[in-house]
Amino acid sequence: MRADFLLRNAGELLTLACGPVPRTGAAMRDLGSVPGGAVAAHHGSIVAVGRERDVVATVELDDDATVVDAKGVLVTPGLIDSHTHAVFARTREREFAMRVEGRSYEEIAESGGGIRSSVRAFREASEDELLEVGRSTLTRMLSYGTTTAEIKSGYGLSTESELKALRVIGKLGEEHAVRVVPTFLGAHEFPDEWRDNRDGYVDHIIEEMIPAVSAAGLARFCDVFCEKGVFSVEQSRRVLEAARAAGMEPKLHADELHPFGAAELAGELRARSADHLVCVSDDGVRALAAAGVTAVLLPGTTLSLGKSAYAPARKLIEEGVPVALATDCNPGSSMTESMQIIMSLASMALRMTPAEALAAATVNAAWACGTEDVVGMLEVGKAADLVVWEVDDHRAIPYHYGVNLVRKVVAGGVVVRDRDETLVV
Ligand code: NIG
Ligand code: FE
Repeated sequence: MRADFLLRNAGELLTLACGPVPRTGAAMRDLGSVPGGAVAAHHGSIVAVGRERDVVATVELDDDATVVDAKGVLVTPGLIDSHTHAVFARTREREFAMRVEGRSYEEIAESGGGIRSSVRAFREASEDELLEVGRSTLTRMLSYGTTTAEIKSGYGLSTESELKALRVIGKLGEEHAVRVVPTFLGAHEFPDEWRDNRDGYVDHIIEEMIPAVSAAGLARFCDVFCEKGVFSVEQSRRVLEAARAAGMEPKLHADELHPFGAAELAGELRARSADHLVCVSDDGVRALAAAGVTAVLLPGTTLSLGKSAYAPARKLIEEGVPVALATDCNPGSSMTESMQIIMSLASMALRMTPAEALAAATVNAAWACGTEDVVGMLEVGKAADLVVWEVDDHRAIPYHYGVNLVRKVVAGGVVVRDRDETLVV
């Protein structure tokens, strides 16, 4: 077996390749540990993984192969950020400061800020300007260990601007080392011109936007902000059923600010994921478990919005709901690119064990954004997307928080980030 890439001398290699996908319950703590592990790849795909002597015996290394010595530290699959709004025109630090002084997210939105202020800036921005912001956001994600990111549209809210968003997301996927999964989120908010005719906007999404997005083949998923004051359960159902008929799989922003029946809808529709879930009801948790819908938890948003109650991660795991984690990276409610801080919050605020947090940021996140055939686990045939950490124990990732513990990032068998080389002391 030929190989053009070999990572050797991992102190502990966590493959996550140890059970069905997505992981639920106690299986979320199994990390598929291989002491003294190695990974070999050819043309970006893993051809051998396991104990170093077995891997080395299996492969024939090209003369000019890349060989990475992990020097005895922890190696994991690349992290997967399964819920982001990483393509936007401008940041909103002014609103953040207003929140710090006591105004709520919803009040700010009602007074013309919030998503609609992002929409005004987005519509004016050129594709090149948006690409520039997207590139630097993805590059920062990569430096924190993220090798796959889902990105939603949703700051355009007109056919023309939503297509612009999805074209930019598509281009980022072609040119950037981070793998990108595109999601259409035309139902993110009601734009100014449709505020007095909300059902009219829903019709417009169904009759014009979904067919246009589907014809252009620009989105894998369709998401809806199903929340009090935004899209009702009935409006969300209509949008997501139309999207599914047009070839897009449903996802929901569900029960973030109020219990709203959105998780129940996610169960009914067998959505790929229900995200946020801070205020999910007991019936909602049961509906997710029964339908096998993944809960994507976004504790960075809860922290950034200054709320004290977090999503009921323990209850979700105990009820058998697969749990994934994501940054929600967006200018309004969670301005971070770091899945490491999200894993810290998962342990500190959601009481997820460090092992559960890692499974939620890799294998379950891959499932949540439909990339489970390619990434999220280290096994033969999957992409050689890896993180070489500065630490030798996975529990140190959430423990040592607010810093970047990534030493090297490998995407498709290529070292795309190397702190060892950039460190000039
Ligand atoms: O996931 N909830 C809706 N969407 C984003 C916020 C987007 C924004 O404020 O710009 C979220 O929190
Ligand atoms: Fe979001």
